[in-house]
Amino acid sequence: MFPFFQLWHEKTPDALVLSDRGSLEDKRCQCAKECGIQSRFARVVQTLFSRVIRSLNWSRSTVATNANENITATGYDAWAPIYDDRDPSTWLDEPFLLQQLQPFPGCRILDLGCGTGRYLRRLTSGLYRLTAIDLSRGMLARAQRDSQSLDVRWLQTSVTSLPFQPNSFDRIMSGLVIDHVTAPKHLFSQIAAVLAPNGRAVVAGVHPDMQRLTGSNIEVESDKGAAHIPGHIHEVTELLAAADEAQLKVEVLEQPRVTPAMVERRPAWKRKLGCPALVLLALVKHGRKG
Ligand SMILES: C[S@@+](CC[C@H](N)C(=O)[O-])C[C@H]1O[C@@H](n2cnc3c(N)ncnc32)[C@H](O)[C@@H]1O
Repeated sequence: MFPFFQLWHEKTPDALVLSDRGSLEDKRCQCAKECGIQSRFARVVQTLFSRVIRSLNWSRSTVATNANENITATGYDAWAPIYDDRDPSTWLDEPFLLQQLQPFPGCRILDLGCGTGRYLRRLTSGLYRLTAIDLSRGMLARAQRDSQSLDVRWLQTSVTSLPFQPNSFDRIMSGLVIDHVTAPKHLFSQIAAVLAPNGRAVVAGVHPDMQRLTGSNIEVESDKGAAHIPGHIHEVTELLAAADEAQLKVEVLEQPRVTPAMVERRPAWKRKLGCPALVLLALVKHGRKG
């Protein structure tokens, strides 16, 4: 099974693009023909592979692209069962997302680094065509479990190596992922490539001032032991320059601070009071073709 998968992946990376639920299998069969794998054995392998994919309900493609991402994926796998996706910082980015995403019925929406599926569940069910990717198998499993009312194409892959055709999405959202990425410039160029002209992206990241206050890396204690998740500090000016270079216009920039109400909910956050918590960006791809 593994050599077949590798062959498929190397020969036709575009086969990873899913037009709708289930079409992945068809593309793989097509690919096998193109690769000259016509034997009965190959068909058996394809069938088995399709069943595995169906049972997982997300496709496993390119995952970590480097050692840093491997460590991140392992850390989030350990964190997934106990990850708190309702902490008070969600009071800051969720209203921004809902105001700035501006989706329309039938809109193709991509969630980059979906985690537990928090953003997806803020969208009206049944109105949009949703795709969600994440590096961590554990986070994807939890997202899928917690988002059963939504029809989502799940994909385990990295935001730094998007397996989609140009102009595949009308809207992109990404929450708290950019601070795990070493090069925001690369991430924004990936976003620009798969976004349709005039498409919008809403990106939230942990604010660099907050990272300096609390440390940019995350240490997780879970049943599976201690895990370390690397983080990277990106200054706001760096993010703005990266967006500009990727031909993404910064329509809105917000840097909301930790409020007294948040500290009341989380007394341990007292030392964070008044510190900018998040960087929130609403980006628009320039309207030219390509
Ligand atoms: C802090 S969580 C945020 C999850 C979710 N977006 C939210 O806002 O609730 C960060 C997520 O990004 C994912 N992630 C980190 N680096 C990634 C990468 N290079 N590609 C895809 N996902 C990544 C992690 O696995 C994790 O699920």
